[in-house]
Amino acid sequence: MNLKEKMDPVKIPEHIAIIMDGNGRWAKGKGKFRIFGHQNGVGTVKSITEAAAEIGVKYLTLYAFSTENWNRPKLEVRALMELLVDTMRKETPTLMKNNIRLSFIGNLNDLPEKCQKQLEQTMAETQNNTRMHLVLALSYSAKWDLVQAIKKIAVDTRNGKLKEDEINDQLIDKYLSTNWMPHPELLIRTSGEKRISNFLLWEIAYSELYFTDKLWPDFTKEDLYQAILDFQNRERRFGKTSEQISNQ
Ligand code: IPE
Ligand code: IPE
Ligand code: MG
Repeated sequence: MNLKEKMDPVKIPEHIAIIMDGNGRWAKGKGKFRIFGHQNGVGTVKSITEAAAEIGVKYLTLYAFSTENWNRPKLEVRALMELLVDTMRKETPTLMKNNIRLSFIGNLNDLPEKCQKQLEQTMAETQNNTRMHLVLALSYSAKWDLVQAIKKIAVDTRNGKLKEDEINDQLIDKYLSTNWMPHPELLIRTSGEKRISNFLLWEIAYSELYFTDKLWPDFTKEDLYQAILDFQNRERRFGKTSEQISNQ
């Protein structure tokens, strides 16, 4: 039986988040410039998006550019922005054909204007697609999101729109830029690094974490199935005992 058939179709995570890492090392290993790795990473984005939609994932969030990534060499940042605009323009028809909606989280105002325009266009064009929601985290960091949420909560509290004792777990969820999607059940990071790098801190409070040594351009559909199988074999206890879970 192949990996795809081994997965339990009723236990496919509704939301998978991925830290796509290792493009630079992949290129370096081939004696090429880092951007060559990013270009090849786009191919993986395409195949993983397709695979996720095929097996019934509803939300796929990909960490594409972090707040901290602005500190990379200017040339790399510019090349990444161009790659983003190009890919978005070229791939919109495929998103339409596959009925996939594209959205973004992050501080989009920081992106070059040309980039913002293309994102808005693709978002608008795909907004009625229903099969899967593909979310790109761009100029995103979890701390940025928490700061903007806390500021809004402060303003609403000062204006009397919100009472202090209404501030709870669910309310904070509502002020985050991820408020329209469920928290990810599964978080994958490629490239062997075992850290979160300021991705979805609040939302992954109870996510299952999966790390693989594969570099992002080498990550395949089979690798995604493998991560899901691993996820399906875990017991998610949410603080309870194993006995409580099996009696449910
Ligand atoms: C991930 O690959 C892509 C982005 C952060 C844009 P990297 O560019 O971080 O690749 P490594 O980690 O240097 O190999
Ligand atoms: C995390 O990767 C950000 C993205 C994948 C977009 P990095 O390669 O920037 O993370 P660090 O700096 O190694 O933690
Ligand atoms: Mg990296």
